[in-house]
Amino acid sequence: MRKVLLLGAVALLATTGLARADGPSPIEIRQTGLDLMSGDFAGIRAVVAAKGDVKPLESAAKAMQRWAAIMPAFFPAGTEAGSKAKAEIWTDMDGFKKAAAKLGEAAGKLAELAKAGDADGVAAQVKEVGAACGACHNAYKAK
Ligand code: HEC
Repeated sequence: MRKVLLLGAVALLATTGLARADGPSPIEIRQTGLDLMSGDFAGIRAVVAAKGDVKPLESAAKAMQRWAAIMPAFFPAGTEAGSKAKAEIWTDMDGFKKAAAKLGEAAGKLAELAKAGDADGVAAQVKEVGAACGACHNAYKAK
């Protein structure tokens, strides 16, 4: 599990590096980042459900925090077509950025709790992170 999570974190960082090169479109980059983050989060939830050691979850939570901080940059204007991004992202970019910042905050707290080995705190904070995903999806992602 730990290896999978670390791999996800490394791949996530590698993906963000691609943004500076020509090649993948912003849609491919953001969807890849979202998939990697989703995998990280699934791994975190699996460890919590299995009542495993939460300390190694710090890196996955940090990767989520870092991705949340840069994710809005991969939603440039004119990239709605062919994706599930709703037009509301561009009519309300401030709200979208705030929704991403909420996720970043929640994931940052998750990383701190994991680092401290606080299993109960991690379990509670996982719900906050999940709520941050859902809140943004409800407002800005097509079904
Ligand atoms: C700030 C808004 C926002 C937050 C926060 C957010 N998402 Fe999303 N998510 C989106 C949008 C918008 C799309 C559609 C992107 C597209 O189709 O280009 C999406 C798409 C996805 C996808 C599909 C990617 C694909 O391959 O097409 C997954 C999986 C996903 N999100 C998981 C998550 C998880 C898990 C979280 C929380 C840990 C989360 N998201 C938090 C906005 C958000």
